[in-house]
Amino acid sequence: MKKVFVNGYGSIGSRIAQFIKDDSEIEVIGVGKYSPDEKVNMAISRGFSVYVPEKKQDLFKNYKISGTIEDAISDCDLVIDAAPSGHGFLNKKNLYEPKDIMAIYQGGETIYGEKAVSDLLFNSRVNYKQAIGKKHVMQGSCNVTGMGRILQPLREKYNERLLRFDVILVRRWADLEQTDKEVKDTIEWSENPHHGDDVKSYMGKDTPLFLRAIKVPTRQMHLHILDVRFKDTAPRPSEFLETFKNEYGVATLYTAKGTKEVRDYADSMKFSFKDTNMIHIHANMIESIGDTVKMMYSDDQTGIVIPENHLLMQAMLFQKEYKDAFKHTEELFHMDEKKKILEEHFSLKK
Ligand SMILES: NC(=O)c1ccc[n+]([C@@H]2O[C@H](COP(=O)([O-])OP(=O)(O)OC[C@H]3O[C@@H](n4cnc5c(N)ncnc54)[C@H](OP(=O)(O)O)[C@@H]3O)[C@@H](O)[C@H]2O)c1
Repeated sequence: MKKVFVNGYGSIGSRIAQFIKDDSEIEVIGVGKYSPDEKVNMAISRGFSVYVPEKKQDLFKNYKISGTIEDAISDCDLVIDAAPSGHGFLNKKNLYEPKDIMAIYQGGETIYGEKAVSDLLFNSRVNYKQAIGKKHVMQGSCNVTGMGRILQPLREKYNERLLRFDVILVRRWADLEQTDKEVKDTIEWSENPHHGDDVKSYMGKDTPLFLRAIKVPTRQMHLHILDVRFKDTAPRPSEFLETFKNEYGVATLYTAKGTKEVRDYADSMKFSFKDTNMIHIHANMIESIGDTVKMMYSDDQTGIVIPENHLLMQAMLFQKEYKDAFKHTEELFHMDEKKKILEEHFSLKK
C-alpha cells in the first residue's frame, strides 16, 4: 500500500489528512507539526501519528511524538505539503528533492521564476492528465481552483463567442480556525495578484482574463464578481446557468443572501469542517445585458482544494484515469450529494 505523509497541519493540512485517512488505497503515515501547541494533541486524538522537525524535538518533549519529519519523509511514497506560503519551495529543496520523494504543493507556492515548485499548476477540470507521471505538482489556490470551475465550462460551451472575462476577487481575511489572526477593519487592495497568471497557466497565456483583487474583513469565503463579455449578444441567464447544471463542485443557489448563510447551512447539515468543498453560483445575482453576463459566485476557501488534492494524489501515485480517480474521490467527499442538498435548500421554493 502506498504511504502518504501530510507535512503541515493547519487549515489545509488538517482537512486533507482527515479526508484521506479513510482512503483504503493508501496509508496516511502521519502529519507534520512545527509548533508545540494544542493542535498536536488534536491530531493525535484524531488518530494521526505526529512528526516534528529533528531540530525541534526538544520543544515537543511533553507530547507523544512518533518521530521526526525527516524520517517520515524517507518512509513515504508521496508528501502532501501544506506549509505556509513559500515554505513548500524550501521543503522541496531541503527535503523532498534530496530524498527523491514525490510531492504536492499548495496554492501559496508558485510555478514561476526561481522559486517555482513545479511547471504544472493542477486544476482537475482542465489538466488532470498532465499530472500523471509527474513528481512535483502544485495544486492551484482556492480562488484559482474556483475560477477554473467557472471559466473552463464556459470556454468549452461558448469558445469563439467569448470576448473577455473581467473579475474582481473579494477575498476573505482569514479562515474560521485561524483565531490568532486578527481580522482588520479595512479593505486592502493587492498589487499584481498571482491569480491571473496562475489561471492563465492552465487556460492559456492569451486568455482574455482581467483581474483585480481586494481583501475584506471576513472569514466567510471569497466572492468573485465576474463579467463575461461575448462577441455577440450574451445568452439569457437561464441558458448560461444550464452550463453548470452537471458541473462537479459547482452548486447553483437562488436564495442565499451572503457567504455566512451558506457556511452556516453546511454546518447545520454536519458537512465536515463546515465546508461545502465547492463554489456557489448566486443565480439571483445574474444579469444578461447586451453583450455581457454579470455573475457572482462564492468560493469555499478552505474546502475547495481538498478534493482536488485527492484527485491529484491519485494521478501521481497510481496514474489513474480521470474517471476512476473521480469516482474514488466522490466516495470520500460526496460532492454530488452536497450539491443537491445545497441546491434544494437555496432553491426558489414555490
Ligand atoms: N487557508 C486556505 O483557505 C487556503 C486555501 C487554498 C490554499 N491554501 C494554501 O495552503 C497552504 C497552507 O495554508 P494554510 O491556510 O493551511 O496555513 P496555516 O493554517 O497557517 O497552516 C500552516 C501549517 O504549516 C505548518 N508549518 C510551519 N512550517 C512548516 C514547514 N516548514 N513545512 C511544513 N509545514 C510547516 C504549520 O505548523 P505549526 O502550526 O505547527 O507551526 C501549520 O500547521 C498555503 O500555501 C496556502 O496558500 C490555503
